[in-house]
Amino acid sequence: MAPREQWTSKLGFILAAAGSAIGLGAIWKFPYMAGTNGGSVFVLLFIISTIAIGLPILLAEFIIGRMGQADAFTIFQRLGKNKMWPAIAWLGFAFGFIVLSFYSVVGGWILSYLARALTGQLTSQNHGELFASITSNPIEVLFAQFVFMFLTVWIVQGGIKAGIERASRWMMPLLFIFFIILAIRSLTLEGAMEGVRFLFIPDWSLLTGSTFLLALGQAFFSLSVGVTAMMTYASYLPKDERLGQSAVSVSVLNIFISILAGLVIFPAVFALGGSPAEGPGLVFVILPAIFEQMPFGSIFMILFFILMLFATLTSAIALLEIVISTGIRTRYDRRRRASWVFGTLIFIIGFPSALSFGLLSDVSIFGGTFFDFADLITSRIGMPIGALFISLFAGFVLTNQQTIRELDVHPFIHTTWKFLVRFIVPAAIIVIFAAWIFEISL
Ligand code: PFF
Repeated sequence: MAPREQWTSKLGFILAAAGSAIGLGAIWKFPYMAGTNGGSVFVLLFIISTIAIGLPILLAEFIIGRMGQADAFTIFQRLGKNKMWPAIAWLGFAFGFIVLSFYSVVGGWILSYLARALTGQLTSQNHGELFASITSNPIEVLFAQFVFMFLTVWIVQGGIKAGIERASRWMMPLLFIFFIILAIRSLTLEGAMEGVRFLFIPDWSLLTGSTFLLALGQAFFSLSVGVTAMMTYASYLPKDERLGQSAVSVSVLNIFISILAGLVIFPAVFALGGSPAEGPGLVFVILPAIFEQMPFGSIFMILFFILMLFATLTSAIALLEIVISTGIRTRYDRRRRASWVFGTLIFIIGFPSALSFGLLSDVSIFGGTFFDFADLITSRIGMPIGALFISLFAGFVLTNQQTIRELDVHPFIHTTWKFLVRFIVPAAIIVIFAAWIFEISL
């Protein structure tokens, strides 16, 4: 049987894990959530949620994965005394499958925009109409989604080192560089400081429970925790790497990029007269209109869509990796075939989401489109449940002896982490859930 692969270095692992975290969540969702929920207050709550709730779960996943050195299903089977624990792996599997089916739709939109930016077709347009016409055109969305899925599968079938690590190693540094160039461009526009103020100076009257819940949900999705993706990545780490440092690096990079996304978007929005509360169309509708007004805007537009593509791809490969690793378990020689088969299935399952903005826009499930429904059952239901059980597993099933050995940090940090995963994280998740259900029944 083929041996299990490992990352070639800790940096490779950190870049891949940061790649999984930094994606549509940080670049697309974070700016519009901040824009529609009071700016700086949301930013602050997001940072607090990432550090106090997201980071402990991320550490829990790193510990479980590195200890287990296997796919999530096998790990829970080996380490959990109760037969129910492997259900977490199935939850992750379903999450990866369903999320990728609609994540790839947005990945396709990005490709459509990039192709237009490269051929000079994004200028002199009514951007709202263009967005509606791209997303409602069945042939274009399905074709673009196909290309995006093809790229994702092509990377994952190459394996951990030659596929995922190699792709992350060049895409992530380029993403950071492009982002910094764009932030400098945006911040040097006249009137840009208004946008900075919007992001950093809190208006405390906007501090409400619901903003806090949204920020917490954003922290989960954005850090990719609760669905065994990070556990799977950590399972390819050799035993001698320090986990605490890696988890802190990934969390800090994710916060940094989210804020940088805000620093690219809001100064430009304020300087050139857009609305920060535009919602999901912010990066597709407002940004192209803004870039159009800048000197050399078409070049910045291309850079922006390339970095969006890299961010989305490195998250999509993590989603597919959850499915593949649990799908093949220890039959490593099946990776290639499994990647193509599952990739094709995910593409097909994604049809209704892809068509949710055109042909199927009138079909409603629980008050939303297929796309909304897929997002709802995964991000708002599946993810918190997964995070809750992973946290309880690390807190109560793994012994102190095991976690101290894996974590290798000052005893005080270990005790704090244990307290968080035992009590604070589960309590926070239960509160989110209760609040959400309460809201629904109003
Ligand atoms: N963190 C990714 C984002 O913010 O776009 C989404 C994601 C990727 C969630 C991989 C979960 C996952 F396993």
